[in-house]
Amino acid sequence: MIEESALNNAESLIQSGTKKLSSISNVPRLEAEVLLSYLLDITPIKFHTDNICINQKVMDKFKSMIDSRSEGIPMAYLIGKKEFWSMDFIINESVLVPRPETELLIENAIEIFKNFESPKILELGTGSGIISIVLQKELSNPRITAVDISKEALRIAKMNAQKHKISEIQFISSDWFSEIMHEEFDLIISNPPYVDRSKLSKEELISIVMEPDIALYSENDGTSDLEFIIKKSPQYLKNGGWLILEHGYDQSSYCISEMKKAGYSKINNSKDIQNITRTIFGMFAYE
Ligand SMILES: C[S@@+](CC[C@H](N)C(=O)[O-])C[C@H]1O[C@@H](n2cnc3c(N)ncnc32)[C@H](O)[C@@H]1O
Repeated sequence: MIEESALNNAESLIQSGTKKLSSISNVPRLEAEVLLSYLLDITPIKFHTDNICINQKVMDKFKSMIDSRSEGIPMAYLIGKKEFWSMDFIINESVLVPRPETELLIENAIEIFKNFESPKILELGTGSGIISIVLQKELSNPRITAVDISKEALRIAKMNAQKHKISEIQFISSDWFSEIMHEEFDLIISNPPYVDRSKLSKEELISIVMEPDIALYSENDGTSDLEFIIKKSPQYLKNGGWLILEHGYDQSSYCISEMKKAGYSKINNSKDIQNITRTIFGMFAYE
């Protein structure tokens, strides 16, 4: 627990919070500042310019948030939002917390479709809606259908679309392609569940334990959903349409081999800032 006697201003509160978070976070001071600034509805810079005193109610809430964070609850769930592609998205426990590597998927899609007017796009597993919403902003008049099996996730995705003043995306509750009837797309894009639960270290497990299982885990060493999407997508792609997928750090060779077997061409991938291959894309052309 944070020592009561020391708590009389923001700095001492932040210091106590930082100490408690140092066992779980690489940036404990930053996280403590963000949590307190969230409760006070100010920017963290104020802690460095003003002498801020804290009332008992805020102090109690802060302590409770620090406790939750130290138990592994992600920052995004505590403050209800996360930045992605320099935009703020509403986030809660029913959706995956957006990861920076997912921006690679969007970069791939922009590179392929930057000169394309009105591409027809299907996003599988939209979660908080980040991928579809960013594509709607970045591409030229795309016609996007975004599906998810989780109704709660779709509710958050729709709230995010509204927040960013986007009304064009069609959000559908669907088990992958189950509700997509006789439609063909220029692009199918997905960040599907691909984590192999059995391979996680204790630390990795703690860092993701609060996120929905359905967003994370897939059978067969994490490859089941990737395999299904790779094999099924050609039925839903136009001639010359593209599939772009995010995958796990060790699933690149598997995805390349599955895409080759399924008949895709122009297969390529891209790496994250740690030089790890995280996305794969390929084109499907009819014989
Ligand atoms: C890794 S999360 C990606 C969420 C979001 N697109 C992102 O990149 O942050 C995978 C998403 O796929 C959804 N999902 C899992 N199984 C599904 C299925 N069978 N059909 C449709 N969506 C599914 C989950 O609910 C989750 O929202």
